[in-house]
Amino acid sequence: MKKGGLFISFEGIDGAGKSTHIDGLTQAFRAQGRAVTLTREPGGTPLAEKIRAMVLNDPMDAMTEALLVFAARRDHLQQVIEPALMRGDVVLCDRFTDATFAYQGGGRGFDLETLLIMERWVQTKRGLEGDFIRNPDLTVWFDLAPEIAAQRLAGARIPDKFEAQPLEFFRRVSEGYRQRMNASPGRFARIDADQAREAVWLDVLKSVIARSWLV
Ligand code: TMP
Repeated sequence: MKKGGLFISFEGIDGAGKSTHIDGLTQAFRAQGRAVTLTREPGGTPLAEKIRAMVLNDPMDAMTEALLVFAARRDHLQQVIEPALMRGDVVLCDRFTDATFAYQGGGRGFDLETLLIMERWVQTKRGLEGDFIRNPDLTVWFDLAPEIAAQRLAGARIPDKFEAQPLEFFRRVSEGYRQRMNASPGRFARIDADQAREAVWLDVLKSVIARSWLV
């Protein structure tokens, strides 16, 4: 089993049903003696949570949205994620940079090259063997057809700015996730989220066990 820090992110369109599985993995890692830092984006620090409230509720253009989520991410990395990885924690993060490529890039149509530049600015880390861009060791992508996600969300709660978007927006978001997976296939586990909850959970667990991070 890997003893050092481990960084796992969870992605999917709104309504794809990641929350219960993130909680399940938290318990599974803790049951095997690992310290878990459970966090989310945008958010995870007092400053980033303030930015989250703006991004989810206030109207703004796509570039403003991208700048704000990356500002929140910078604070989150500095204050929470990097220190946790240094301690050897398992960091379970509900969304990370793939969400920016999917929502601001795919959904809103913001320039992907500019997002790559922002990713490099914000996430470059000095390592023993030179600089690298901090990204998750594993990204669990809950892939669900937008039509089904919309049915699941219907009436669940008052929708935020993103949840209120039309199906077409979420088709583009899904395509954005697919492109990110194709660019880094080894980092992604694509989970078919259109199954019974227990079957989805087994697939999530398998993706972690396959990497020998849980037994
Ligand atoms: P959540 O509801 O899963 O916590 O996610 C918050 C919303 O923020 C979700 O609709 C996706 C969106 N989002 C972005 O648009 N860009 C980002 O970079 C991130 C992290 C989230």
